[in-house]
Amino acid sequence: MPIIYDETEKIFMLHTPNTTYAFAVVDDCYLAHVYYGKRLHDTGIRYLLREEEPPFVPSVNRREKNSFLDQAWMEYPESGMGDYRESAFCMRTADGFRGSELRFASYGIEAGKPRLAGLPATWGAEETCSTLNVYCTDARTGVEVCLAYSVFEDVDVVTRSVTVENRGNESVYLEKVLSACIDMENRDYEMVGLFGSWARERHVQRLSLGYGRQNISSFKGESSHQEHPFLALVTPETTQTTGEVYAMNFVYSGNFIAQAERSQFDSVRMTMGIHPEGFCWKLAPGEQFTAPEVVLTYSDEGLGKMTRTFHELYRTHLIRSPWLRRERPILINNWEATYFDFDEKKLIEIAKEASQLGIEMLVMDDGWFGNRNTDEGSLGDWEVNESKLAGGLACLVEDVKKFGMKFGIWFEPEMISPDSKLFRKHPDWAIQIPGRDITQSRAQYVLDLSRQEVVDRVYEMVAEILRNADISYVKWDMNRQLTTMGSAALPADRQGELYHRYMLGVYQLQERLLAEFPELLLENCSGGGARFDAGMLYYSPQIWCSDDTDAVERLAIQEGTAMVYPLSCMGAHVSACPNHIVGRNTSFETRGHVALAGTFGYELDVTKLSAEEKELIKEQTVFYHRYHALVAEGDYYRLLSAGETGGADSFLVVSKDKSRALLFYVQVLARANRKNRLLRLQGLSPEKMYRVCGKCYTGAVLMYAGLNIKLLQGDFKSLLWEIEEITE
Ligand code: GLA
Repeated sequence: MPIIYDETEKIFMLHTPNTTYAFAVVDDCYLAHVYYGKRLHDTGIRYLLREEEPPFVPSVNRREKNSFLDQAWMEYPESGMGDYRESAFCMRTADGFRGSELRFASYGIEAGKPRLAGLPATWGAEETCSTLNVYCTDARTGVEVCLAYSVFEDVDVVTRSVTVENRGNESVYLEKVLSACIDMENRDYEMVGLFGSWARERHVQRLSLGYGRQNISSFKGESSHQEHPFLALVTPETTQTTGEVYAMNFVYSGNFIAQAERSQFDSVRMTMGIHPEGFCWKLAPGEQFTAPEVVLTYSDEGLGKMTRTFHELYRTHLIRSPWLRRERPILINNWEATYFDFDEKKLIEIAKEASQLGIEMLVMDDGWFGNRNTDEGSLGDWEVNESKLAGGLACLVEDVKKFGMKFGIWFEPEMISPDSKLFRKHPDWAIQIPGRDITQSRAQYVLDLSRQEVVDRVYEMVAEILRNADISYVKWDMNRQLTTMGSAALPADRQGELYHRYMLGVYQLQERLLAEFPELLLENCSGGGARFDAGMLYYSPQIWCSDDTDAVERLAIQEGTAMVYPLSCMGAHVSACPNHIVGRNTSFETRGHVALAGTFGYELDVTKLSAEEKELIKEQTVFYHRYHALVAEGDYYRLLSAGETGGADSFLVVSKDKSRALLFYVQVLARANRKNRLLRLQGLSPEKMYRVCGKCYTGAVLMYAGLNIKLLQGDFKSLLWEIEEITE
């Protein structure tokens, strides 16, 4: 049984194939965390609660209740009553008092996993997933909190989310509703997170955890370029293959906080949820609020196993697009080829040339609507600019299809330009604080998607375009952060709901889009990769990883991204050199190898390429089809990180049956007077015989002794080698 409640021990045990998560009822009312780690088969672990040690439990030692609250390992800690570590929940009553006393009331276990209203979340069939709902109530207000835990039987994951219901007679104000918390003993943990900036998203950072609080967060209204809703605590010896890892990832795209706190007693509290900054949710009698889902995983085999668990979960229980397991069309996007300077003739020229090289879809990027010839205006005016696209969109699409290509289009539906017909008609539709200047970013404002009429209007504009032309793909962009938070439609005591209501509006839009156009291939994007998160993956099977398309810069970006998300999600394109962001020249081959690690495509003017480069495109497009399934569905093993090895980046993707693998290797800078590199592979079968570059080795030799990688002459050189089992 994956979920057990032992009535005698009063302990909940949640089992995945290799892990156990346990918490207990203490003093008949508190929920206390007991254990998370390697799978246990018995329930006799209540002693871990240390109820016999001072300060004991409040029913035994009432005078030191504060001490108990501040030391116990709490399952869902509350603010204001005596636990001074980071709380997960904070509520203010209508009469102005902060505090709550959530007490265990009941529980229920069900097969499968109910949906979270309006939110993206993992899903699970009744045969492979079970859900535990634990209900706690606050007697003074009648507020009930349901802690929901889902357990998967095919992957080592526990998910948590929280629903608060006001069953009392007066409104309450939720000031903080985090989604997950675990307390545990400190083991000199180090924190692994993903940090960056525009054009250098999700670089891995590892720091040791000191006393106090260290957090990763965003209150930009998006998961952000800078910090990422992922946090892992690892024991100091942790590598890709060894060490213990506790990881959390948020299935949400808006404000978040992920935090680790080392307490005076050397316990560590790990929390994740919606950032409380700018958040206050009024819960009127009868209303419910659901906090998004956190995915938890534990690995005792290092970061590599954690990565493969996330990949497996997202491929089998999160991304629901029919495109997940289909070969995605190799696309060519005109952004870096033309920017705003294009017309239908230019696009047709690109499509014609691209179609002869094996490219299968033309994506028309920004600049096709309103008067959009620069980034100064027209967002919100989603009407085709026929002075640019003579004959209209449907005509262009049909012309492109004549080359055997599909057609894709760019939108930025969440935005409104000050210089747009939409803004002139509805100035109150922009998020703003009355009497204050709206902070511009990229000369644009953000639409107030907390308002249903705004969501409806935006939806209709986007859908109308898709209804009237044969469009296979949409790139859904979002190019600025949220500021000056105010909605003309929300009452004063609900303005603190805007950030989250905005996200609910975005999710509703994407949900509706996919309901009306179920075959649409949706790619999310946010000024590159500012919203590359599990929330958006629920709707789109791929996300544009970064505006930085330089092959060398992409190594760190894709390494960090792939630490959590499957390769099949990472938008990666071959672009022109010198690279538009960093001015670097890399070979066409290396650019191809780096892009083949993601959803493959091109972002350059194919009409301007040399004959040799065109030949390489033909080879790359054939290669993509041959290995698409392996890259998209294989197990990922990170072998070298350029940041750690002084210049070489390498990973391996291995088929589930271990009969095929692909080795990616990039030597960043050439170095003098060095030995060849012995690269130890991972994930193969030690007994099987494999062929690599015409030579035969056992898996054991490749993994334990290593493959001899010759020093490559020149900078930015790469290898992409097929490894195949020899069966005859
Ligand atoms: C963002 C995207 C780019 C491109 C531009 C268009 O920056 O990340 O790929 O679509 O917008 O304005």
